[in-house]
Amino acid sequence: MLISAIVAISQNNVIGKDGHLPWHLPADLQYFKSKTTGHHIILGRKNYEDIAKPLPLRVNLVLTRSASFEAPGCVVLHSLKDAFMFAKNAGETECFIIGGAALYKEALPYCKKLYLTKVLADIDGDVLMPSLGDGWELISEQKREADSKNIYPMLFQVFQRA
Ligand SMILES: NC(=O)c1ccc[n+]([C@@H]2O[C@H](COP(=O)([O-])OP(=O)(O)OC[C@H]3O[C@@H](n4cnc5c(N)ncnc54)[C@H](OP(=O)(O)O)[C@@H]3O)[C@@H](O)[C@H]2O)c1
Repeated sequence: MLISAIVAISQNNVIGKDGHLPWHLPADLQYFKSKTTGHHIILGRKNYEDIAKPLPLRVNLVLTRSASFEAPGCVVLHSLKDAFMFAKNAGETECFIIGGAALYKEALPYCKKLYLTKVLADIDGDVLMPSLGDGWELISEQKREADSKNIYPMLFQVFQRA
């Protein structure tokens, strides 16, 4: 099973603000949906609380260390290894780490593919992306200009590593 991460990062490395995404970029949400639909997605409890519902047509694996946390419509698990095992046992071919920062930090060493949206602006925020680690090779890149609904230009990049 391929383990991938998908994230949108500003030029100054911001990914979050006040518990939310620091921007509203429908084109990136659409890109995220196109890549993750039909797959297992693994998310941290804080990211889940921001989204506040299971993302449809995906198996939502929410990680928390709390024994009592409930996330209706999701599978609540207590370690990354359990999440990988759950997805693998279900026959998944590509599972996605969808954040936030705490989860990216722990999971990136296991990831062989990275879908990175570069938001081409400096953005105010309080959650930064942890180090991506070494060995990433850029395999595709597509620029999208800003428009009336997406106020920042974006670069959709895909990286992989051995
Ligand atoms: N730009 C993007 O693409 C993007 C994507 C996703 C999220 N975000 C942003 O990132 C921010 C949230 O990030 P965050 O770092 O604060 O929180 P987070 O990673 O979403 O959640 C952290 C929590 O997840 C649980 N957790 C993490 N690793 C675990 C493990 N190995 N085992 C068990 N539980 C684990 C813990 O929950 P408990 O405390 O319950 O034990 C931990 O406190 C928000 O602002 C969000 O909007 C941005």
